[in-house]
Amino acid sequence: MAMTRFETLLMHNPLRRLQQEKGTLPAFATLGATLAGGHVLEPGCGDGVGAELLIRVAQARRVDGFDIDRRELKKAQARAQRQRLPIHLWRGDIQHIATPQALYDAVVCFGVLHHAEDWRAALRELYRVLRPGGQLCLEESYAAFILHPFWRRLMAHPTRDRFDGPLLLAELAALGFARIREQRIGQAFGLIVCQKP
Ligand SMILES: C[S@@+](CC[C@H](N)C(=O)[O-])C[C@H]1O[C@@H](n2cnc3c(N)ncnc32)[C@H](O)[C@@H]1O
Repeated sequence: MAMTRFETLLMHNPLRRLQQEKGTLPAFATLGATLAGGHVLEPGCGDGVGAELLIRVAQARRVDGFDIDRRELKKAQARAQRQRLPIHLWRGDIQHIATPQALYDAVVCFGVLHHAEDWRAALRELYRVLRPGGQLCLEESYAAFILHPFWRRLMAHPTRDRFDGPLLLAELAALGFARIREQRIGQAFGLIVCQKP
């Protein structure tokens, strides 16, 4: 589901970049993520800041990314072109990823899974595209945030069958992910790193 104007403003500003660079990426590393030198997929790439940071800060070798929203994709493509970074982008849906299986060393989602109507199908896809030993890193908003009446007035997210931390961890384990580690931020947000055996 594409972002509202409000969420677009919330996502595209220097503070959000700072949060990704100084908060989320270091937290992923603390939870065991090793992205350096890897071929990384970034679903829901938005304006492309995440892909840029994955190369410049996390030292990924190459980043592939996609977004369902054409406007976001255009911004990300312009940024990658301007900066001449090894980033390949296309329009796509996290619920049906147009790549072969076992392609990626890591998948990094910055705030995307909760936008998927069928988040369980999206997780199955993320598992499929990871190589054995590959890592999944999730920065997520949980039901307590998504379903809160105040935020529901400002943002558009699917509301049926949403997940909290425990449900998401259980689904990851049921899919076969191992070494699942979570840093929960209140009841509303979480950072997760796990591995495909
Ligand atoms: C909260 S924004 C995060 C953007 C960016 N990753 C960031 O952290 O700044 C969610 C992004 O996911 C995209 N999105 C929503 N549903 C999607 C889907 N089904 N497949 C792929 N991308 C999706 C939106 O267009 C938006 O760019």
